[in-house]
Amino acid sequence: MSHDPEHVSQLPTEPTGMPVRDAIARRVSCRAYQSKPVPEPQLMQILEAARLAPSACNQQPWRFAVVRDLDLRRRIVEDGFLPGIKMAWAIDAPVHVVVGMERSFVTHRLAASVSGVDYPWVDIGIAGEHLVLAATELGLGTCWIGWIKPRVVARIVGWPASVKPAVVITVGYPCDPDAAAPPASRRKPLAELVRWL
Ligand SMILES: Cc1cc2nc3c(=O)[nH]c(=O)nc-3n(C[C@H](O)[C@H](O)[C@H](O)COP(=O)(O)O)c2cc1C
Repeated sequence: MSHDPEHVSQLPTEPTGMPVRDAIARRVSCRAYQSKPVPEPQLMQILEAARLAPSACNQQPWRFAVVRDLDLRRRIVEDGFLPGIKMAWAIDAPVHVVVGMERSFVTHRLAASVSGVDYPWVDIGIAGEHLVLAATELGLGTCWIGWIKPRVVARIVGWPASVKPAVVITVGYPCDPDAAAPPASRRKPLAELVRWL
């Protein structure tokens, strides 16, 4: 195990009072944000939660661009989102975390071509949800946004061609912190989803 301070997790180790099950139950897509900025230690904490996610062959294909600059956020929304869904609200989210994917040759191209499983998308989903649940624990709202133009977003955040934006996750303090969590009735019943063997 490495003792290099660079590699020591910055996540608090003391209990925070919000069990994972509560974060899961409370999380809801937030589409109305206060302008209040998110303190950097909180951003570090949610990024750290994403960094600790598991990934196929520990390839860690995720990359993150943390966009706080208003002009850049505006460009992401106005130029980097696809048309057809009203998402102007996202400009008001004080932080956009662009989650990008950098594919490796062996795991992501060679192994994936044998198994047919597109591993980095799985990995990105796990890391993104770690980030979202950690944000929920801190009282932050989030919304996944997948209706994007990856090439345009990559240009806006200055990523090289090897990094492809997968999603944008908006982060900030919700206008309505007591917004109801998604009722279980909006989800398919387990009976429809699970096969017990
Ligand atoms: C991969 C992914 C992409 C999504 N893309 C968008 C999007 O482009 N715009 C949007 O407003 N919401 C988007 N959402 C949010 C979903 O609409 C939302 O999670 C779903 O309706 C369930 O509602 P809840 O998050 O409030 O429980 C996305 C969610 C995921 C996981």
